[in-house]
Amino acid sequence: MSNFADLDGLIWYNGELVPWQDANVHVLTHGLHYASCVFEGERVYGGEIFKLTEHSQRLVRSAELLDFEIPYSVEEIDAACRQTVEANSIVDGYVRPVAWRGSEMMGVSAQSNRINLAIAVWEWPSYFAPEERLRGIRLQISKWRRPDPATAPTDSKAAGLYMICTLSKHRAESEGYQDALMLDWRGRVAEATGANIFFSKDGVLHTPTPDCFLDGITRRTAIELAGRRGIKVVERPIMPEEMADFEECFLTGTAAEVTPVREIGPYSFQPGTICEQLIADYDAEVRRKNSAAAA
Ligand SMILES: Cc1ncc(COP(=O)(O)O)c(C=O)c1O
Repeated sequence: MSNFADLDGLIWYNGELVPWQDANVHVLTHGLHYASCVFEGERVYGGEIFKLTEHSQRLVRSAELLDFEIPYSVEEIDAACRQTVEANSIVDGYVRPVAWRGSEMMGVSAQSNRINLAIAVWEWPSYFAPEERLRGIRLQISKWRRPDPATAPTDSKAAGLYMICTLSKHRAESEGYQDALMLDWRGRVAEATGANIFFSKDGVLHTPTPDCFLDGITRRTAIELAGRRGIKVVERPIMPEEMADFEECFLTGTAAEVTPVREIGPYSFQPGTICEQLIADYDAEVRRKNSAAAA
């Protein structure tokens, strides 16, 4: 069985590049017991990290929302991510910065715990041919919901909030679906377990207002790309029954990129020209800088 702990390479760990297998934490780590941990997921395309600074800014903000301060600036985090990509000679890959409270205090209170930051990178080409993507994936409607922002720091990419995603995704996978759609605490359409969602109808895109889940960097990119094509995007509350009237549906996320959806519970969609256009535009956008540099 493969194991991420057994890979080779260098991991940036509190300011130093250390051998992959030495980048460990103690079992009595606050982040592990009490979920005082935030992270990012970034993609490297042709050696460049897409929207790196936006990710580093979100990491810092995610930590602030959990009431801790990462002891590095956004510029330093950007530089550390680039250094790690370069040290591991990654061309097309994934970057995982993670920040957490250490083991100095073991209890709910963690006033004097050290804040740690590590950055791991690994190769991860984006595989799918557009035709294959256009078949679309199937989502189950999860019984788990995104919480009220009065209950949890929902704007933070906080590790603890992923408990709901793993529960949802495991149930979906065990029942033959590729992913799950989570509603929010009010019963409105929210997001998939690692991606935002869009629908189309009569040439207009509709996407839920991100008031209790991440306003994804890819989501914002897709809105911008749609705008450049003159496609109107409406951000609004969407109720599950409305899915009966939508034509196309797709997910957006750093990992998912633009992934068409063909089914969500009882609702079907037909991936078509809007999905196709946005897949192509997103692909061109993430590789834009590289082709500009090569030209
Ligand atoms: C739960 C969740 N929602 C949305 C997103 C999309 O965010 P982004 O486009 O910034 O990757 C992600 C991925 O990070 C996610 O994990």
